[in-house]
Amino acid sequence: MRNRYKVFIQTFGCQMNVHDSENIKEYLKSAGFELTSSEEEADIFILNTCMVRNTAEQRAIGRLNSFYRHKINRDVLIGCAGCMSSFYGHKLKEKIPQLDFIVTTQDIPDIVDIINIAMNKKVFRNYTDHKFIPDNRNSLRSNDFQAWVSIMKGCDNFCSYCIVPFTRGREHSRYMEDILEEIRYLINNGVKEIVLLGQNVNSFGKGLKEGVDFPTLLRKIEEIDGDFWVRFMTSHPKDFSFELVDVISNSKKLCNHIHLPLQSGSNRILDLMNRHYDLDLYRNIIKKIRSDIPDCSITTDIIVGFPGETEEDFQETLDAVKEFRYDGMFSFIYSDRTGTKAEKMKDKIDEKIKHERFQRLMKIQEINTQNAHRDYLGKITRVLVERTSGKVKGQLFGHDYHNKVILFNAEKELIGTFANVKITEIGNWAMKGELISKM
Ligand code: SAH
Ligand code: SF4
Ligand code: F3S
Repeated sequence: MRNRYKVFIQTFGCQMNVHDSENIKEYLKSAGFELTSSEEEADIFILNTCMVRNTAEQRAIGRLNSFYRHKINRDVLIGCAGCMSSFYGHKLKEKIPQLDFIVTTQDIPDIVDIINIAMNKKVFRNYTDHKFIPDNRNSLRSNDFQAWVSIMKGCDNFCSYCIVPFTRGREHSRYMEDILEEIRYLINNGVKEIVLLGQNVNSFGKGLKEGVDFPTLLRKIEEIDGDFWVRFMTSHPKDFSFELVDVISNSKKLCNHIHLPLQSGSNRILDLMNRHYDLDLYRNIIKKIRSDIPDCSITTDIIVGFPGETEEDFQETLDAVKEFRYDGMFSFIYSDRTGTKAEKMKDKIDEKIKHERFQRLMKIQEINTQNAHRDYLGKITRVLVERTSGKVKGQLFGHDYHNKVILFNAEKELIGTFANVKITEIGNWAMKGELISKM
């Protein structure tokens, strides 16, 4: 190995992992490591893993094993970070014998030590549980105008299908003043979009002595001077307050987009999923959003084929999806996760039926999206320009105020700024438009 080690980092999974990787990169860079996007050049490989579904886990194992070929001719280290490291700990070595180190989701501040130990002693280091959430103001972001900000970590909800409480540990909110300070710093340094991250942002503040909650935090962020906007994810319906709708509807900075996972439209299945709400409670939230924030886009997550899901249960999901007219949806085929309650449930659904239900659900959602997008035609919307589209020369790519993908032609200098765009063409994945004004 050379003096200045080059590290190749790849990330699978959700925004939490992407943000964790930004922090890993910052710790490594500050310690003198170099980052590389070339596998051939790398001395150290790190895969930040996800295991929310079996497919994600298999993909991660496959990828980690694929790094092995570099060990044949060179002295390289292979490390696993992310949710699989936290869940399996040292047992990962049995699954991936070529592994040299692991970095759990709690262990990220110690990454440099972990690598040094692996380099020098070739032993696995015992990992610790950092209770605090590190300040992320300097994390190595992919651009300087969008920033994820963690407001909490972990999850205490134990939805019966979900592995996350076992990989990310107990729920723990960050001090509000620390979050606000980080945001002020980011805005002063030109950031235009803040995305607040947590598995269940609506329970922010629980357990803090400060006596604050999520609407309080949002109001405080609103008071920060500057031209920026704020998104957040994810909202759990059981903790979603009407007060939050009021805060969004009165805000100039909060984007009009709410991601509110329903998971199933059947009360019986919601109960088995341990979701702690029923369809009526969920419906009341949707009604409140639709009446107070008429142009709010609403998206959701649905799991198809949960153990015991009958055709009637599934029909209730289809009915709910039609009724709630979602702008967009992430739908997932139920996947057994070791150690969860659902794994031990009877009446697992046949793969063929799960796939067939999945297709039926997608069809309904396609119609929902078409209907939702039709309203945009001819309207002017505010877009944060993120990059060139990469497909058509001169075309720029961004997300608007409702989190819609918008494509339009303009000069590259607009990247990193807001623009007003008139929608001229709609599609399910993206809308096209023309530039009206720059800001
Ligand atoms: N904390 C977030 C999301 C976490 S995981 C929330 O509560 O909404 C993202 C999505 O993956 C979940 O909303 C769920 O729809 C899906 N998911 C989680 N575990 C799953 C499993 N075992 N099988 C299929 N989908 C799953
Ligand atoms: Fe998983 Fe439920 Fe927690 Fe979301 S709220 S991370 S689905 S246990
Ligand atoms: Fe995210 Fe996957 Fe972990 S969804 S929290 S990276 S299991």
